[in-house]
Amino acid sequence: MLTRKEKIYEGKAKILYKTNDPMYLIQYFKDDATAFNAKKKGTIVNKGILNNQMSSFIFQFLEKNGVKTHFKEKLNDREMAVRALKIFPVEVVVRNCVAGSLAKRLGLEEGMALQQPILEFFYKSDPLDDPMISETAPVALGWMTQKEVEYVNQEVWKVNKLMTQFFDERGIDLIDYKLEFGKDAQGNIFLADEISPDGCRLWEKGTGEKLDKDRFRRDLGKVEESYEKVCRLICGTL
Ligand code: TMP
Ligand code: ASP
Repeated sequence: MLTRKEKIYEGKAKILYKTNDPMYLIQYFKDDATAFNAKKKGTIVNKGILNNQMSSFIFQFLEKNGVKTHFKEKLNDREMAVRALKIFPVEVVVRNCVAGSLAKRLGLEEGMALQQPILEFFYKSDPLDDPMISETAPVALGWMTQKEVEYVNQEVWKVNKLMTQFFDERGIDLIDYKLEFGKDAQGNIFLADEISPDGCRLWEKGTGEKLDKDRFRRDLGKVEESYEKVCRLICGTL
């Protein structure tokens, strides 16, 4: 049995704990919500429980379809066991439709279709506000090898195909989202972090209603209800 030991990292939405097994950590999901690099702070009631449930479900779906993820098992309402990894300091953003910072940067209408998905890379750094970097930067800066970048790219396309179909079948358009990867002591790479409405833009098919953290970022109301709705659509239960 995995037992929780000392805290090793506390982020804006999650806490990581060591366990009695050096191979695994416990990832604890909080209700804390932040936006704009924590310039805006709040709480989304039961978000931790919902995000743990949704992330567990999606990681299992991806694993079944050949994607290696850090997910081991859901332990309880707010905790999952995950592989101990060294996380690359890179956030990969996949965009299937124009929204958010892309719309702002290029002066485009949110919701505009793209001819093909866009991949963007950001440096994971709170003090620098996660600046955008080029695809060649991680190798140039010694964060990743060329082979690791190529592997991550290949996994991202696989994940995007699986996830767009997954959400599509559940009445949701997957507009954009952020992924993180890490590697274990043997150099194997896994999809890490979480997959939830905190890091994805999810628009209800037909109505276009936003069902993700933009409701919190933009003060649109019905935040909790939207997370619950996504959870119901994904997992079938709450
Ligand atoms: P953006 O349009 O603000 O660049 O965000 C693109 C996607 O990435 C969106 O689904 C939200 C997600 N994201 C995070 O998960 N964490 C972040 O720090 C940022 C900036 C975006
Ligand atoms: N997660 C980031 C933050 O706290 C950005 C965001 O999701 O908008 O601040």
